[in-house]
Amino acid sequence: MFSRSISLVLLSAVGLVACNSSKKTDGAGAAGSNEIVVGAYLSLSGGEATFGSDTRAGIDLALEETNAKGGVKGKKVRVIYEDDKSKSEEASNKVRQLIDREKVVALLGEVASSRSEAGGIIAQGKQVPMLTPSSTGVTVTKGKDFVFRACFTDEQQGAVAAQFVAQKLGKKKAGILFAADDDYSAGLAKTFQAHFKKYGGTVVEKGFQKDETNFTTYLQGLKKESPEVIFAPVYYSAMGKIARDAKREGIPGSMFIGSDGWDSPDLLEAVKGGELEGAYLTDLYAADAPYENAKSFVTAFTTKYKRDPNSLSAQGYDAANMLFAAIERAPEVTPLAIKTALAATKDFAGATGKITVDANRNVNKPVVIVQIKAGKFTYHSELLAE
Ligand code: PHE
Repeated sequence: MFSRSISLVLLSAVGLVACNSSKKTDGAGAAGSNEIVVGAYLSLSGGEATFGSDTRAGIDLALEETNAKGGVKGKKVRVIYEDDKSKSEEASNKVRQLIDREKVVALLGEVASSRSEAGGIIAQGKQVPMLTPSSTGVTVTKGKDFVFRACFTDEQQGAVAAQFVAQKLGKKKAGILFAADDDYSAGLAKTFQAHFKKYGGTVVEKGFQKDETNFTTYLQGLKKESPEVIFAPVYYSAMGKIARDAKREGIPGSMFIGSDGWDSPDLLEAVKGGELEGAYLTDLYAADAPYENAKSFVTAFTTKYKRDPNSLSAQGYDAANMLFAAIERAPEVTPLAIKTALAATKDFAGATGKITVDANRNVNKPVVIVQIKAGKFTYHSELLAE
């Protein structure tokens, strides 16, 4: 913080010359700079490329609307995107680069909890606020007062999944198939298990490694135990393969219960043979959910992109707007002032519902239950963790 303030003072002292002579305006809104620069680090390529590109679509829409209305504090907002290629190490590098080189005043990103964890450690160390649109992993924000999220945590998502399976579906025995070496997947498996047992259920679990591509042995192992459902809190890329292997083992797709990590057009494409027909998943949002602000967002999004937004796009849109609103309210455009303003976010009317940041920089929102019906993600209901 100290060295940052010094460099700011120096920058203002050098003044307009420094600002104008280089393309790199200071994101902190130094005297004369006419734009506010925010960094976004996302998986725009690699294993979870749709997470990054769908999120970017939402951020871009928010940016366009904000700048069309005159920007923030009368300045245009610019978002610098960096692709971390779906890798944690790259996420750290990109955050470092956005802060040190681009001098961004705040960060948006990531989607996958493991990468938000990596990026968040750097953002926290450098005291620049970071807002993840959709990382639900419990530890992402823990102990990091500069790291915020615009979504619920897996404490809530796992609890709701267990509640839905035990109480709404009335199931007593669940298989769990998860990526043991992934923060998100392992965290959600653990929370589900704890809550499902609380409802009197029993579980059998199988953990695989992230880079595995054949799930037959795990599925056979689960099948032998005759679970009534299989909870699979995994990302879409793995789920497509799991669903196809399951079909070969005669496990019906409707037995699977998923989580927000399934939310990708690529999963629907991979199971267009009906491999997951009837399956339920917990999610952050559904385009056909009956929210107040959802409708105008869906209209704006479909007009711009000619397709329905998924939860990544909606969360990207909300996170960007939430950040712009915080910058507008902040008394000055500095990382510290923006962090304080973000923490004070209350009843922000987002496309995904009302957003209030709690003392731990998390958001308590209802979990959306989605069902795969006729090959599409379809809104089913909403549940708030008990
Ligand atoms: N919640 C997931 C994570 O933390 C990311 C995600 C959000 C994936 C929404 C898909 C849809 O890793």
